Amino acid sequence: MRFKRVYLDNGASTNVDPKVLEVMLPYFTEKYANASSGHTFAQESKNALENSRKIIAKSINAKTDEIIFTSGGTEANNLALKGIAFQNKDKGNHIITTKIDHSCVLESCKWLESQGFKVTYLDVDEEGFVNPTDLKKAITDKTIIVSIIHGNNEIGIIQDLETLGKICREKGVLFHTDACQSYTKTEIDVKKQNVDLMTLNSHKIHGPKGVGALYIKDGIKITPWQHGGGHEKGLRAGTENIHGIVGFAEAVKIANKKHVEHMIELRDKLINGALEIKGSRLNGPRGNKRLCNNVNLSFKGVEGEALGGYLDSKNICSSTGSACSTRSLEPSHVLKAIGLSNEEANGSVRLTLSRFNTEEEIDYVLKVLPKFVKKLRGFSAIWKG
Ligand SMILES: Cc1ncc(COP(=O)(O)O)c(C=O)c1O
Repeated sequence: MRFKRVYLDNGASTNVDPKVLEVMLPYFTEKYANASSGHTFAQESKNALENSRKIIAKSINAKTDEIIFTSGGTEANNLALKGIAFQNKDKGNHIITTKIDHSCVLESCKWLESQGFKVTYLDVDEEGFVNPTDLKKAITDKTIIVSIIHGNNEIGIIQDLETLGKICREKGVLFHTDACQSYTKTEIDVKKQNVDLMTLNSHKIHGPKGVGALYIKDGIKITPWQHGGGHEKGLRAGTENIHGIVGFAEAVKIANKKHVEHMIELRDKLINGALEIKGSRLNGPRGNKRLCNNVNLSFKGVEGEALGGYLDSKNICSSTGSACSTRSLEPSHVLKAIGLSNEEANGSVRLTLSRFNTEEEIDYVLKVLPKFVKKLRGFSAIWKG
């Protein structure tokens, strides 16, 4: 093989762009002051923090002070759900999410159930779409927040935030979305899309790990979960991760439409090539309702884990189920929610691209993939093709 590695697990995490690293480095060794300190040296850190906040706010059409930095998407989702639930517990005890949300949303909801809150987990259709009528019907006078993932990490479906958010607005219910996978990859405009709270993170977009943000619309009150020195308007205590935040903002600055077009081209080449394999199926929709970097395939008679292992033997990094979670033998909750049997769900493989992937890499994957599928079907009791 001509490549050291073909990295197709960008939905789990991405490489830090060298330009991002360059911008981050001085904040480790030269500009290391605590942004909360009073001396002049600290002003550099404070300026970097506020400038980064401005960049991130602008990118989603929010105001600068509507952005709270966190340690990542998991923390932002926890803060949004638990913070809103406890802030509004006198108004109601009902939360709505979907069966295809990320585990950090679902586990937060489960924990909230243990605290007396009631949660509705909306079904989705066979492509992964939430039906707006289902959402409308699920909202009651006790509903305090609706949380629906924007771009799904497993099957790449992009929900129609504008329509879903409008329903929440009309019913007077807060609308939160987890945009970790869609950020910089599809249009995000919190005003146009009627979003009240939005989760973002850095390590899916060639920024560093361990940093994310929560957009909280002006005027919305939220109960903090982390107590301490009153950082981030008292909503998230802890010395700000300035080098991470600066890197996050730089990654946002670098991301552009050309990168998205490049990923779409590679994605569609990979999908079209893979679907030529008999007994294959694409999980999630095609076209512009799919994240530009997501491919999720099932091959009849093939174990996804085994296929991932064969790909790995050729240094092709893929994932099965959701690679952000700890390894689990349970079939993916997302694939089950779109109607796949346990067997089909266990036969899936996720290949996620970044702007750093090349057409040659995709050609290579398409060359080895049919061979591996054929080989694995040789061991299969199901495959009779
Ligand atoms: C949709 C989604 N939400 C949340 C997260 C968690 O973000 P983080 O790793 O920054 O905690 C991930 C992946 O990691 C994700 O894909």
